[in-house]
Amino acid sequence: MSGQEWSAETVAGIVREHAHLRGPLLPVLHAVQERIGWIPPDAVPVIAHELNLSRADVHGVVTFYADFRTEPPGRTVVGVCRGEACQSRGGRDLEAHAQDALGVPFGGTTQDGEVTLDQVFCLGNCALPPSVTVDGRLHGRVDAATFDRLLAEAR
Ligand code: FES
Repeated sequence: MSGQEWSAETVAGIVREHAHLRGPLLPVLHAVQERIGWIPPDAVPVIAHELNLSRADVHGVVTFYADFRTEPPGRTVVGVCRGEACQSRGGRDLEAHAQDALGVPFGGTTQDGEVTLDQVFCLGNCALPPSVTVDGRLHGRVDAATFDRLLAEAR
């Protein structure tokens, strides 16, 4: 999953798109991460300036939420659902398998920089647990073998 190249202009533009919202910081951060793939440290002063906040305020929010990435993700991003429906139907085994197979904990990126493993909490696919996304594509009823196949296809 390669995001758009980061630039101060891109980030300032994203801020302006959301500036009309009440409490725009979180939507801005989500939009930056969605478009660029992560929140570059140099984007923090740009966001702070545009929203008239301190850098510490913005940095504090970025680091508080586990959802925000402060390092670039791997080429492929895999999300394993840890929501209740998935956990009760094989999700726990799949969580363990995913971390073993990639050799990284949730939030980590493989040493070759290829794959980032994210945890997510409900992908809205509770009828077909356990659920996984690969670069945003949703897959249901994923067992260890299916996970390995999806990973091999993505790499
Ligand atoms: S709990 Fe996993 S998709 Fe809803």
